[in-house]
Amino acid sequence: MKDSFGRNIDYMRISITDRCNLRCRYCMPNGVESLARSEILSLEEIEAIAICAASLGISRIKVTGGEPLVRRDCCQLVKLLKSIPGIEKVTITTNGVLLDRYLEPLIEAGIDGINISLDTLDPCMYERITGFDRLAAVMKTIERSADLPVRIKINAVSIDFSSMGGEDCHGPEGIWWKELVELTSRYPVDVRFIEMMPIGYGRQFKTINHKDLLEEMHREYPGLTEDDTEHGYGPAVYYRIPGALGSVGLISAIHGKFCDACNRVRLTSQGFLKTCLCYEDGVDLRAVLREGLRTPEGDGHYHWPLRECPGDEKLQARLAAAMEKAITEKPAAHCFERPGMITESHNMIAIGG
Ligand code: GTP
Ligand code: 5AD
Ligand code: SF4
Repeated sequence: MKDSFGRNIDYMRISITDRCNLRCRYCMPNGVESLARSEILSLEEIEAIAICAASLGISRIKVTGGEPLVRRDCCQLVKLLKSIPGIEKVTITTNGVLLDRYLEPLIEAGIDGINISLDTLDPCMYERITGFDRLAAVMKTIERSADLPVRIKINAVSIDFSSMGGEDCHGPEGIWWKELVELTSRYPVDVRFIEMMPIGYGRQFKTINHKDLLEEMHREYPGLTEDDTEHGYGPAVYYRIPGALGSVGLISAIHGKFCDACNRVRLTSQGFLKTCLCYEDGVDLRAVLREGLRTPEGDGHYHWPLRECPGDEKLQARLAAAMEKAITEKPAAHCFERPGMITESHNMIAIGG
């Protein structure tokens, strides 16, 4: 459906858990508490919302977390989402630590693309950022990428390492981004750099300015050209080094604002439909669902609007109306350049990136 600025909203990010097996300092450092399981949407609740979203024109879903693969029914959920009429593509963004184990089940479930969050190829820096020595596990999937039926993309947040105390990890000749870019020469993967956004713990760190990064990349690779072939449905702008197997993307939320072309909303793991990363605007769909599904006996049990028993059409209509209103009121653009106006107070772990 269209929002009030005429943007076609056809993409929903669904965070399926707020738990993670890493502790990235800009996302979920040590000490962040996880929610009680009852606070998190069940499989059936996610399904009900996705069916409703599809009826409003959402055709692509990105499954995120926390780390989505720590939720045991993640592959089952991918399969369920793929089977909803109107949902054309389901992709996932993961830290990759458990991916070697879950690749086959995800592919069997019908996953259309896999994004791996990986900010550095330097083992020392990896541990500094994530708190764990798991780089080798993540690399296993990247090394298999040529044999996989789905495209792999790498997400690297463009952290100004001087704001993270990581200078000692790099040799004096090290260019932090170059070894990531060169993955595109060795493997058929797209590597995307993401400007650090001032959300949650991200506020404590500085971002690299992608205008500078692009200039540096042009100097390093004089043959670098813009690549306007389709790579997905996200905001990245792509480039290619001649002869490379994959592309390099820039997601420049701060220095290359792309809100005019925004196509998305986000469902948090607690069932809040968020209409922009920057603000708390949106609607609590979990409240709509749980209120509407309470059994008349009031015994704490719920009726589920599964496809086999679509039963409660009134509830579906209430859900759809709540979603429609929130999407219509989606803000025009973020205000990361005016931090005082940011109203979002949740951490990225709760939002899903
Ligand atoms: P695909 O390219 O289709 O896989 O989608 P994507 O790039 O949107 O997915 P991914 O989950 O890999 O997100 C990459 C980064 O882009 C994350 O850091 C997101 O927070 C950021 N991002 C995605 N969508 C938006 C958006 O609408 N606004 C902003 N500011 N950042 C976004
Ligand atoms: N700014 C930009 N990207 C972020 N991510 C997490 N926190 C931030 C932030 N503050 C990224 C993760 C992951 C994606 C879903 O979001 O690294 O790749
Ligand atoms: Fe869309 Fe908000 Fe992201 Fe801008 S910051 S692209 S409006 S979600």
